[in-house]
Amino acid sequence: MNNISNTCNVQEWLYSDIVKDHFFNPRNILLDDKDYRADGIGISGSPLCGDMMAVWIKVDENTGKIRECKWRTFGCASAIGSTSMMSVMVTENGGMTLASAKRISPEAIIERLGGLPDRKYHCSVLGHEALRKAIEDYENNHGE
Ligand code: FES
Repeated sequence: MNNISNTCNVQEWLYSDIVKDHFFNPRNILLDDKDYRADGIGISGSPLCGDMMAVWIKVDENTGKIRECKWRTFGCASAIGSTSMMSVMVTENGGMTLASAKRISPEAIIERLGGLPDRKYHCSVLGHEALRKAIEDYENNHGE
């Protein structure tokens, strides 16, 4: 007899309250970028699931800190929750420098989320990669 509980541990799929909050109330999401003027744009895709992520940043030229981080994805709840959290982390407290934002890791985002199911780790990488590309785009556009 086929017993689904042998192959699927429900505990492995539980989301923290923080993930649920960011999924149901995503911060800094940009549904229509038609009139949005970004300083840098990054797009990433997951080879594991085929989902896509776009990140737009605005940078304060005087301080070199990220003042806005917008994003949009066709990814899952984990991608939405983790990118929402990432956008908060790079803009809170006056914004991160580009150098610090480049060093932000999926593990740091997951820690702020109170964890993610192991199988969803690749979803948290999507926003992180798109952010790095947006920073590279900004640096290329500004001769850095
Ligand atoms: S399954 Fe594709 S981003 Fe999560």
